[in-house]
Amino acid sequence: MKTQVLHVDRTRPEPDIIAAAAAVLRRGGLVAFPTETVYGLGANALAATAVAGIFAAKGRPGHNPIIVHVADAAGARRLTTDWPDAAERLTQHFWPGPLTLVLPRQPQVPDVVTAGGPTVAVRAPAHPVARALIAAADLPVAAPSANLSARVSATRGEHVLAGLEGRIDLLLDGGPTPGGIESTVLDLSRPRPRLLRPGLVSAAEIEEVIGPIERSGTAAEGPLPSPGMLARHYAPRAALECLPPEEAIRHARALAEQGLRVGLVALGAVADGDNPYLLPVGMPGNATAYARRLYDTLHKLDAAAVDRIVVALPPDTEEWQAIHDRLRRASTRDP
Ligand code: TXA
Ligand code: MG
Repeated sequence: MKTQVLHVDRTRPEPDIIAAAAAVLRRGGLVAFPTETVYGLGANALAATAVAGIFAAKGRPGHNPIIVHVADAAGARRLTTDWPDAAERLTQHFWPGPLTLVLPRQPQVPDVVTAGGPTVAVRAPAHPVARALIAAADLPVAAPSANLSARVSATRGEHVLAGLEGRIDLLLDGGPTPGGIESTVLDLSRPRPRLLRPGLVSAAEIEEVIGPIERSGTAAEGPLPSPGMLARHYAPRAALECLPPEEAIRHARALAEQGLRVGLVALGAVADGDNPYLLPVGMPGNATAYARRLYDTLHKLDAAAVDRIVVALPPDTEEWQAIHDRLRRASTRDP
């Protein structure tokens, strides 16, 4: 399959380009598109065969359910059987935006979307291109991140092509995505809301709107509530290690002196100490800016074919929670 690439204006998407992409979705094809978090790989959520194409293109395990992207709360309600007060308040507060809600599903949602489970994850993205595409297709759009399964999510069109060129019908390239890491996933299908994946909306912001939530989501307890919680996800090709800043710098230099090509990702500027094997990457000291840059940095180090990536851990405070989560998962080795 040849992947067509169409460049689209990220603030005012051209209607003819959006119409072409919507037509691909309506005939059951796969379209990668930018959202405010990362690029999504979209298919008609109501067509099981179209959604099956997403799993094939990504090499995604069938037990991992997919988020359905909708225009608004009304679109989400058509896919769910229960709309608790928390859903109403959260969607009024955070939608369109990077918050995904898990709710009991309507039977019309195909099993392939929910991995056969009783719930569906829904989110209304804020990105103008995503919004225009959903509106023009007039469909709920199932879309996981547009990367090969378990690899680093795509925050630029180039990243999508690096993983999926030849495997999808169309890329709508709207430039870099503003958020840089994935949405927050919150399970509202149980009596007490539970954080399944930290993301761009923080747990504290959610609690300001609906009161206390369970944050134990990242612990491995019981059946897998969200396979995005699996170890070894969001991972670059090279083995990645996270260490406290000074140790990270020492360790990276030691590896480089052994002749390994090492990417060193740290806050602020780091000198390479004249070692050609050490590739230092300075990161912003602000969590929002760091998130925007993180996956692009990992993709670039992959493209530079480094042997190892060493990350100096950012501060251990609430605003860095989602970044710590992604770094932890990127650094988990296969057992
Ligand atoms: O920001 C995002 O969320 C991006 C953009 C494209 O919207 N999407 C994304 O999708 O990150 P994906 O498939 O890479 O991650 C979705 C996460 C996975 O951890 C999946 O297991 C979980 O959401 N999930 C999806 N449906 C679920 C459900 N019904 N119950 C529990 N978890 C679910
Ligand atoms: Mg993903």
